[in-house]
Amino acid sequence: MENLISLVNKIQRACTALGDYGEGSALPTLWDSLPAIAVVGGQSSGKSSVLESIVGKDFLPRGSGIVTRRPLVLQLHKIDEGSREYAEFLHLPRKRFTDFAAVRKEISDETDRETGRSKQISSVPIHLSIYSPNVVNLTLIDLPGLTKVAVEGQSENIVQDIENMVRSYIEKPNCIILAISPANQDLATSDAIRISREVDPTGERTLGVLTKIDLMDKGTDAVDMLEGKSYRLKFPWVGVVNRSQADINKNVDMIAARRREREYFSTTPEYRHLAHRMGSEHLAKMLSKHLETVIKSKIPGIQSLISKTVAELETELSRLGKPISADAGGKLYTIMEICRFFDGIYKEHLDGVRPGGDKI
Ligand code: GDP
Ligand code: NA
Ligand code: MG
Repeated sequence: MENLISLVNKIQRACTALGDYGEGSALPTLWDSLPAIAVVGGQSSGKSSVLESIVGKDFLPRGSGIVTRRPLVLQLHKIDEGSREYAEFLHLPRKRFTDFAAVRKEISDETDRETGRSKQISSVPIHLSIYSPNVVNLTLIDLPGLTKVAVEGQSENIVQDIENMVRSYIEKPNCIILAISPANQDLATSDAIRISREVDPTGERTLGVLTKIDLMDKGTDAVDMLEGKSYRLKFPWVGVVNRSQADINKNVDMIAARRREREYFSTTPEYRHLAHRMGSEHLAKMLSKHLETVIKSKIPGIQSLISKTVAELETELSRLGKPISADAGGKLYTIMEICRFFDGIYKEHLDGVRPGGDKI
C-alpha cells in the first residue's frame, strides 16, 4: 500500500533520473505538474533550521554566507517504527547513509562538484531521500537564501541569480511556497513575503512560517503576526522556535529541541491559546496533509499529462530501439509503470470508488 505522496515522489525521482531524456519529451512538463513544497526566505531567516526540525535530524551544511547553492529536493519517507533511519542520494543510488554527518558532507561535496567551489550557484538540483520512522511523507525543496549583497569571491550577479532561481520554482502554479520570516524583524522587510507576494498575491499557495519567536524584543510578541493580522494568507501562520546558535554549538539534540519548543508555546501566556497549531511537529503534519490534499485536487491534470507522457515515452522507446542503455530503458519502463498505476487510481477515482481513505 502506498500513499499519494510516495507515488508522486517516485514519479519525481524517475523524471529526474531521466533528466537527459527529458529534452523534447513531456517529462519536464510532467515534473512541473507535480505539486511540491519550496522553502524560501532570506539568508539566516531559519530555513535550514526549519527543515532540520521537520526531519528531526542534523544533516544540512552550515556556515555563514550562501551555504545552499543548489536546490535540494528532499523526499521524506516514513518507515516502520523501530527501523533504522538512513538516507540515499539519487546521484549515488547504491549507497546507504546511516551517518548524517556524512550526508551533510556529501551535500557540500556534490554542491562543489557542480559549482566548482566557486561559491556560484547552480539550478541543477540534488536529490536526497530520507527514510525514517520519525518523519511524515513529504517532499520539500530547499532553495538558496535570498540575499541583498554579494560577498567576497562572488559575482555581482549572484543576488539577482538567486532571486531568479527562487522565482523560477515558486512561480509555477503547482508549487506550494513555504515562506520563512524571522519574527524579530518587521514582516514588511521579509524577503520571503516580498517574493511570494509577487507570484501569489492572494496568498492561496503560500504557507507562512515565523521563526525566532524566542528572540523578539522584550515587550513585543508575535500574536498579531500569528493570527494573520499583520499579513493575511489563506492558511494560518505557524510559529516555530528552532535551536539557537548556542544550542547548535552545544549539540542540543533535535528531540530535546522539539520538546523544549512544545513547552515554550504551551507555557508562554501570550501563545498558550495558539499552542495547538504552533511548532515544528505541527508544521510537518500540516504540510504533509496539505501536500496530499493538493495532490488529490490535481489528479485530473496530472493524469492527462501522464497519459500523454506514457504515449510519448513509448514512441521514444521504440524510436531509440537498441542503442538505449539498459539503465535508462529500465527507468523509462519504471516511469511508465508508475504512470499506468496512477492512471488506474484516477479511473477508480472517477468511478466513485474511494481508494481506501488516504491509502491507495
Ligand atoms: P538559513 O540561513 O535561513 O538556513 O538559517 P539557519 O537555519 O542557518 O539559521 C540562522 C541562525 O539563526 C542559526 O544560528 C540558528 O541557530 C538561528 N536560529 C534559527 N531559528 C531560530 C529560532 O527560532 N530561535 C533562535 N533562538 N535561533 C534561531
Ligand atoms: Na527574510
Ligand atoms: Mg541555510
